[in-house]
Amino acid sequence: MKAEIISLGASVPEKTVTNDDLSKIMDTNDEWIRTRTGIRERHISGEDIPDEEKIFSLSLDACEKALKRAEEMAEAGAARSFKGREDIELVIVATSTPDFSFPATACRLQEALGLKAAAAFDISLACTGFIAALGTADAYIRAGIYKNALVVGADALSRLTDWGDRGTAVLFGDGAGAAVLGASDGDSGVITSILHSAGSGAGALYSKAMYFNEAEKAAMAMDGKRVYDFAVRKTPEVIREALEAAEGQEVKFFVLHQANIRIIEAVAKRLKEPMEKFPHNIERYGNTSAASIPILLDELSREGKIEKGDLLCLSGFGAGLAYGAILLKY
Ligand code: COA
Repeated sequence: MKAEIISLGASVPEKTVTNDDLSKIMDTNDEWIRTRTGIRERHISGEDIPDEEKIFSLSLDACEKALKRAEEMAEAGAARSFKGREDIELVIVATSTPDFSFPATACRLQEALGLKAAAAFDISLACTGFIAALGTADAYIRAGIYKNALVVGADALSRLTDWGDRGTAVLFGDGAGAAVLGASDGDSGVITSILHSAGSGAGALYSKAMYFNEAEKAAMAMDGKRVYDFAVRKTPEVIREALEAAEGQEVKFFVLHQANIRIIEAVAKRLKEPMEKFPHNIERYGNTSAASIPILLDELSREGKIEKGDLLCLSGFGAGLAYGAILLKY
């Protein structure tokens, strides 16, 4: 048995902030941001979402969408191990910006979604969080402990943004993405899941304090060049490691964490793969941390660009410095 993705869902705040909007509040401009990062706009949660609800409400919306799709598939007889939401036995939320220290966001979601029979916990691994959550759920399913799981990547890095620091403030956006997973003994599902931490570089990207009601003091600090070099070096390495399990089959898409279009281009070049295989939406969302991979997967799925049986390689990297890759048949 292994975990397969049954359905996906995503949610972002309504409010968009363009590069021109940012240039009104800090010394930056659209051209610099676009050419250095690829970002044109990002979604930032404002007063539309109460502060104690940001991660919870974005995650809940993403989960409702994913569960609704899974339930429709179950009705059509296409969801195998998943018959209905009462079958969810595990909820894992990857977030580094939870609304509260505790309870875990996963427990609040479990309650709101009525998933009575589930174990629920959060994982904190910043931009690599979704890879860690999906890999963990796959391990439980492989071990035969659970059959159906809900995994979420959600972050509101706007919480940790120092709007006076143009070196970081232009990069991030808020959002959530969710996947319903089921146990598969067929062709589709996770083939291999790899997670590493560099064992150095914890000081290259961090938030300065716990941030509750103290956003300014807590704002993130980043050595941009160091993180950039790390991402460009380590991401191809871990992808190659994952591809060893592909047994010569061709990967349709490399779904990378959306941190910077230049990082994605550099990874493609190092892997000697064409950019067409590296879908991206960083233009519209910025870096949504743990949410970027499931938001992109959800878009690809809704646009019909990925279909059952496609070989995908997901890869995340970021604060830690952590990085990982998952090879799966969709
Ligand atoms: N607008 C305009 N100018 C800016 C700016 C902004 N938003 N941010 C920085 N600058 C300036 C710098 O002050 C510097 O000016 P100077 O030459 O007068 O000193 C100049 O632009 C170049 O800065 P530099 O930091 O060398 O730019 P860069 O090409 O390295 O790009 C990042 C900076 C942050 C885009 C890049 O390092 C990066 O993407 N790093 C990885 C960050 C990341 O993805 N983190 C999350 C990982 S999950």
